[in-house]
Amino acid sequence: MEKTFIMIKPDGIRRGLAGTIIQRYEQKGLKITAAKLIMVPEELACKHYEEHVSKPFFQELIANITSGPVLAMVLEGPNAIRLARLINGPTQIEEALPGTIRGDFATSTTENLVHASDKPETAEREIKLWMSYMNLA
Ligand code: TYD
Ligand code: MG
Repeated sequence: MEKTFIMIKPDGIRRGLAGTIIQRYEQKGLKITAAKLIMVPEELACKHYEEHVSKPFFQELIANITSGPVLAMVLEGPNAIRLARLINGPTQIEEALPGTIRGDFATSTTENLVHASDKPETAEREIKLWMSYMNLA
């Protein structure tokens, strides 16, 4: 069984899409093994997105992710990392097809509702980071 880190971003919570989004993962067989609704402090946001620190969209990204509560979750299942990324859809709004969370609901590349770990090393790092921050480890 593989584990991945998922976050429903503030725009997803604000728009009342948490239930719909969780259902997409659950109906493909992924199980929630931990979850917590939290406000993300800037320090955690910057650590989570440290790979993007020098990108032009970094400030906007951090502002977005700290703008309201997020639902941080660990999902488990066969091929969970790849599967969750497929369910989310691609990062760029114009590439996200209907049938994916982003394709069906995202309004821009920044306000794209969800995060999912992109590879096994990232999943391990993100699960450790978030679970220890949330006292769920
Ligand atoms: P990235 O890790 O590339 O995407 P993903 O969330 O699919 O793993 O980027 C992280 C977040 O940064 C992305 O979800 C939205 C934001 N972002 C932008 O606002 N503009 C951009 O051009 C890119 C690539 C990302
Ligand atoms: Mg990413």
